[in-house]
Amino acid sequence: MVLKLSKRSDVESFRALTILSEVAERRAAGEDIITLAPGQPCFGAPQIVLQKAKDFIDQDPIQGYTAAIGTLPLRKRIAKYYKENYDHIVHEDQIVVTTSSSSGFILSLLSVFDAGDTVALTMPTYPAYKNMLQALDINVVEIETTKEINYQPTADLLEKTGKKFDGIIITNPSNPTGAMIDKETLKGICKWCDANDVRLISDEAYHGITYEQKAQTVLPFSKNVIVLNTFSKYFALTGWRLGWAILPEDMIIRIKKLAENLFVSPPTISQFIAMEVFEHTNVLDGYVAKYKENRNILRKRLPEIGFDDFSSAQGAFYLYVDISNLTNNSEDFCRRMLDEAKVAITPGMDFDTKRGNSTIRISYAGDASDMHEACDRLIKWQKIKV
Ligand SMILES: Cc1ncc(COP(=O)(O)O)c(C=O)c1O
Repeated sequence: MVLKLSKRSDVESFRALTILSEVAERRAAGEDIITLAPGQPCFGAPQIVLQKAKDFIDQDPIQGYTAAIGTLPLRKRIAKYYKENYDHIVHEDQIVVTTSSSSGFILSLLSVFDAGDTVALTMPTYPAYKNMLQALDINVVEIETTKEINYQPTADLLEKTGKKFDGIIITNPSNPTGAMIDKETLKGICKWCDANDVRLISDEAYHGITYEQKAQTVLPFSKNVIVLNTFSKYFALTGWRLGWAILPEDMIIRIKKLAENLFVSPPTISQFIAMEVFEHTNVLDGYVAKYKENRNILRKRLPEIGFDDFSSAQGAFYLYVDISNLTNNSEDFCRRMLDEAKVAITPGMDFDTKRGNSTIRISYAGDASDMHEACDRLIKWQKIKV
């Protein structure tokens, strides 16, 4: 007898992660692969932070649960970061520490939407949003953005869609384009959402990784916004699985109860090292300088490969490249790049199922030597017919 599997669990795979595992397996089997696919820093936590983590385990070998919403010292430290970094006052009671921002999303979506509600995503987008929403029985409305509008929404665009939705997720800077939303546009989006009873969720995962201007948080512009952030990107604690949410007052008690029941507690050791990492932003800023150098290498060299139509990449560590001059099947193109040139890159279908067949996302969170090696290999590979 075959028992039923749920319809809502039948989500698309997250291609960038599938590639990550495939590359790891093929490298373990001896293949020499350069990867520009994963959305994670190639640098780990600063050495001094790792040493403190070891000391902490010696002092506290039990490593039991903490409060479901995170330790008070960490919530206070995050509040201090908002004052220092954005000159914005956030009370520690508004902050919930989560097991990565991914679980912050689950908690937030569950707290404010019911099955059958509708949430808008601007395309191209971070793929997990759509799949999480589907798994929670929340409908998705896609709003297309283009390079002409820097792949980001404006209040005007939301108004013009004429579509009805209960919430919207924005990502600033964006994965996959690195495009940013300026302060006035953010204000306009917040105002539009409040006027239209739309819950705005702002994914600020890539704050801190910006190259020309600092990223602006939406917090000053509306009391209704949900802000999600993570220690996985700027703070380089990717595998430690820690993030945080900043929430409107009326959500706190709901989230607290959900967090207790769904996740019990965020990882204890990770909360300890997150406290420490705030004290080493000089090292983290050094990582950002390296991403910037990588971005500059790629901007200069990618046109030699025919990858010459790319996104603004103002932040995060991604270039979204229109390769319609080379293929209309980015999945097959990336497969061949991996098999023949031994360079892993993520096909655009991950980020935009309607138009992603002519785009790719290049991650430049790796080492500068990998940027050069990938370009050298791809130039040689050009003789392959598309
Ligand atoms: C835009 C965006 N949001 C959220 C996440 C999830 O981050 P984490 O679950 O590691 O906090 C990612 C990871 O790539 C991302 O790119």
